[in-house]
Amino acid sequence: MRKPVIAGNWKMHMTCAQAREWMATFLPLIAATPNDRELVVAPPFTAISTMADLVKGSTLELSSQNVHWEGHGAYTAEIAPGMLLEHDVVYAIVGHSEPRKYFSESDEQINHRARSAQSNGLIPIVCVGETDEQRTRGEAERVIRRQVEQGLEGLDPAKLIVAYEPIWAIGTGKTCESTEANRICGLIRSWVGSPDLIIQYGGSVKPGNIDELMSMSDIDGVLVGGASLEAESFARIANYQAA
Ligand code: 13P
Repeated sequence: MRKPVIAGNWKMHMTCAQAREWMATFLPLIAATPNDRELVVAPPFTAISTMADLVKGSTLELSSQNVHWEGHGAYTAEIAPGMLLEHDVVYAIVGHSEPRKYFSESDEQINHRARSAQSNGLIPIVCVGETDEQRTRGEAERVIRRQVEQGLEGLDPAKLIVAYEPIWAIGTGKTCESTEANRICGLIRSWVGSPDLIIQYGGSVKPGNIDELMSMSDIDGVLVGGASLEAESFARIANYQAA
């Protein structure tokens, strides 16, 4: 049985003061949320320590937005697994389309990060997804399959989340049709060959489309950007009711 994972990715948003305000609104709104789902937030690194204190005693878990493959060293601007574990971080997002695009992250680097996360006891959330041009050219499946094969090489599917985030749907308000998102998630599951793999959808997830997305057979959760910055809207997403 796959337990859905509802995760908010705050990206480069939220000071510690804003995170405190967000939590003061959010926690009461999830007090009655059923425990048939995991709730996760990925704050920026500067807010992780503050959030680690605030999530104590709640069902909310923390994710980082990245993790390096080395335990320490001369890697300016990077973060080591042990630095995250010290703050009870459980998940680590890797391979998001933004570092892929702005910092030319390769599938090989993403694989190193994901392996490091797993071997240190963090659960990697590995993001995959095609651009608008790739989809228009009919290359979406080939691109995603390459990202899956190279990015997930050597990983244990039991301690892993894959997030299907079509790049054209991120921050654009254009959600992928739920049936198409479900089809791609099903393909990813078949390529990985693990019926228990948790696969999220990400890209303009909102209170208005969460119930439909979560009623799809192969969508086991969501990775939410913009709509996770508002405590009320993320709480509505966390409190989804699948049809
Ligand atoms: P939006 O929900 O803002 O489209 O962002 C999705 C995303 O990139 C989550 O990682």
